[in-house]
Amino acid sequence: MSARMLATALLSAAAVMGQNQVGVTATFPNGVTNPPAPTLAAVGSVVNQTSYSRLLTLNGVDDFCIFGPPEPGPDSLIGNVEPIVVAYCAKARNGARIIPDGTIHSAHFIKTPMYVQIQGYWDGTRAANIPYGDYGGELDPHGAENLGNPIGGNVTSNVSGQDVFYEEWMSFVSFDQYCLRICTANSEDVNTALQCEHELDVMGCQWVMPGDYTNGTFDSCLGEAAAPPGSYPDVTSSQGQLATATSTFRQRYTGTWSAGSTGGVFTVGQTVTPAAPAYTPATSSCTYYATVSNGINTADYRVVQQGALVAVSSGAVNTASTSASTSVSSSSAASSSGASSSRASSGASAATSAASSVRSGAVSGASAAASSATSASSGFRSIPSVDAGVFAIVGAVFAGVVGGMAVLL
Ligand SMILES: *[C@@H]1O[C@H](CO)[C@@H](O)[C@H](O)[C@H]1NC(C)=O
Ligand SMILES: *[C@@H]1O[C@H](CO)[C@@H](O)[C@H](O)[C@H]1NC(C)=O
Ligand SMILES: *[C@@H]1O[C@H](CO)[C@@H](O)[C@H](O)[C@H]1NC(C)=O
Ligand SMILES: *[C@@H]1O[C@H](CO)[C@@H](O)[C@H](O)[C@H]1NC(C)=O
Repeated sequence: MSARMLATALLSAAAVMGQNQVGVTATFPNGVTNPPAPTLAAVGSVVNQTSYSRLLTLNGVDDFCIFGPPEPGPDSLIGNVEPIVVAYCAKARNGARIIPDGTIHSAHFIKTPMYVQIQGYWDGTRAANIPYGDYGGELDPHGAENLGNPIGGNVTSNVSGQDVFYEEWMSFVSFDQYCLRICTANSEDVNTALQCEHELDVMGCQWVMPGDYTNGTFDSCLGEAAAPPGSYPDVTSSQGQLATATSTFRQRYTGTWSAGSTGGVFTVGQTVTPAAPAYTPATSSCTYYATVSNGINTADYRVVQQGALVAVSSGAVNTASTSASTSVSSSSAASSSGASSSRASSGASAATSAASSVRSGAVSGASAAASSATSASSGFRSIPSVDAGVFAIVGAVFAGVVGGMAVLL
């Protein structure tokens, strides 16, 4: 049995049905800058391009939103503005800003038993105020204050047949790439917090959210669920029997702790990074589109129609799951690995991108800054800014530094 088959068994649709749904739908208040419910703008109305709505919706290949900085300019690196990013939507909706036609270069929508996901390439500089060359950051409903990154950010999807606010989601955005997963169900083995886990903030889209990252194409597919980010279903065992354990990669994190007059340094996570996610899940029943469009003229931002989605073919192609190599790279190889792989290859191959996903630079402020020069190949892993996080456990204060922008909370 392949890793995929085992994981599929673990994550099967049957296992999803009838499970405890605690932690699936959101129970706390919607963010104050958001409309109370997701809405499509009326034809004839004008999109507010200075909106502070932080309500994302992910309904389909042409109906999704991604967070971006509220203002343009060099100070708007995602890592600097995570708490205040705002929603940019492919359709006029949620009182949010519109993503202009022509700025989404690819979009791949997948509906699985456990989550919906979209990933692709875009011109984030024109779509969402992201500075050119910003390899971006990770947004999720947690953040340093546990109020969300952004604060008050919320998400909905209608894949259940009606609009639902979901509790767990994660998104990476950069100047040329985006991905968003909203977790919509628990299974027996994997809950939404695990499937939308938010601590792998420097690993990037292809590693955390495996799927089709082809540039220039648009499609909507059904799919199997991926293994939870950083988890590797373990198919080897003694006597050749299947083991159901998974090994779980933890992003390396170094910080200091103090309690009264004593203190020290602590490290969690691995020093080596698996080259790729456990597998890329199979997809089926795909529908292909030439592009996605909202038809809105950015001269006046008036809503003229509700999208114009052109199907080019449908249903014919299913893709098999592909198991990726799980070879590891040592952390000392990080810089050369990052520097030597070309940016062009990362869009086409998750494995190629993941192969460069070693992050020795992420473990300290100094080395994170030093490694930002090599970030061009891998996206998200080396971030030009370094955030410090502080948290407390049983009276001791831990101050941590990661090469990402989101504190590991
Ligand atoms: C909005 O986001 C906050 C912060 O993540 C979360 O606690 C809350 O449950 C969300 N509310 C809704 C209605 O989605
Ligand atoms: C646009 O959104 C901003 C921020 O929420 C708000 O202050 C402004 O009043 C809105 N403009 C219009 C015309 O609704
Ligand atoms: C969900 O959203 C999609 C994409 O906008 C739309 O085509 C569909 O009609 C919606 N379904 C429901 C049940 O609202
Ligand atoms: C994706 O394709 C568009 C259109 O050809 C191109 O401008 C863009 O640079 C490509 N993005 C990446 C990351 O290769």
